[in-house]
Amino acid sequence: MSLISLKNISKNFGKFEAVKNLNLEIEQGRTFGFIGPNGAGKTTTLSMISGILKPDKGEISIFGKNLYESDSNEVMEIKSKIGVVPEQPYVYENMNVYDFLSFFADIYKIRNKEERINFVLTQINLSGSKNKKLSEFSKGMKQRASIARALLHNPEILILDEPMFGLDPVGIKEIRDIISGQKKEGKTIIISSHILTEIENISDYVVVMNKGEAIRTGNIEQILNSSVSEIELEIEVDNINAQLTGGLKNFDFVKEINFSGNNLKIKTDLKHKREISKFITDSGSVILKMYENKKTLEDVFVKLTK
Ligand SMILES: Nc1ncnc2c1ncn2[C@@H]1O[C@H](COP(=O)(O)OP(=O)(O)OP(=O)(O)O)[C@@H](O)[C@H]1O
Ligand SMILES: [Mg+2]
Repeated sequence: MSLISLKNISKNFGKFEAVKNLNLEIEQGRTFGFIGPNGAGKTTTLSMISGILKPDKGEISIFGKNLYESDSNEVMEIKSKIGVVPEQPYVYENMNVYDFLSFFADIYKIRNKEERINFVLTQINLSGSKNKKLSEFSKGMKQRASIARALLHNPEILILDEPMFGLDPVGIKEIRDIISGQKKEGKTIIISSHILTEIENISDYVVVMNKGEAIRTGNIEQILNSSVSEIELEIEVDNINAQLTGGLKNFDFVKEINFSGNNLKIKTDLKHKREISKFITDSGSVILKMYENKKTLEDVFVKLTK
């Protein structure tokens, strides 16, 4: 059984349909990455899964319980297992990070509060700044404080909405390491980001959203293969001649061909790779090297959300 199940979820703001008939099954221990252009409905979806925005239609079940139909004790129980890092982190500027976490630890009724706060502060590398006011924190430090708050009650599910937004490469790496650590601990993670390489590296499954709909869902391989069939082959041959390039151009599956020196670059589709290499060797040239330039989530994103 899935840990989180979304059945036909819709959310409207007035007449505007922000999320339309979304279905999704999230298994325990998996990392789901949400990508999509601005306004695609990622934050709306994550807020609904977090239990802070009720869908207009459909059902969200977590741990087998309906998130919006259960009694208040059950809802509290579910929410106590979820940690949320919202798109706009709310940090109380005039508190220091320790007091900030202490405030939430009381709300969560965390036992061994001091020990837990110190553990989390070490985990996210903020123990050195324990007494510093949040107003004096950099953006990256505030983001880490927000993550620390989400981790305080050691939740089984982590929902992070653009946790790397606006961070420098070091900041991005720090957040990536924290998420990887949580992933290794077996946590179920839902993350949205516009940094597609991060989503590609961290996620087991990707949901591509556009205009309120999940237009692709699957593991990275499935998404890449189902969406972009075009590949670029880079081939080094011992001898490029007019007969070879002319012959290749005649194939209708060769979309584009460029060459310089002994290097050929051919845009084609996955199916015809073998035919191309056969044609090259049949024409008397020797293939010295052949690379297939990997497709990326960015290619899919650009193609699907045009
Ligand atoms: N509270 C609201 N009231 C009215 N419209 C809203 C509200 N929240 C979101 N929307 C609209 O719903 C759509 C989806 O917004 P959402 O914030 O979910 O997008 P997103 O995919 O998270 O975008 P981004 O990448 O910019 O964060 C947008 O068109 C947005 O204007
Ligand atoms: Mg958003």
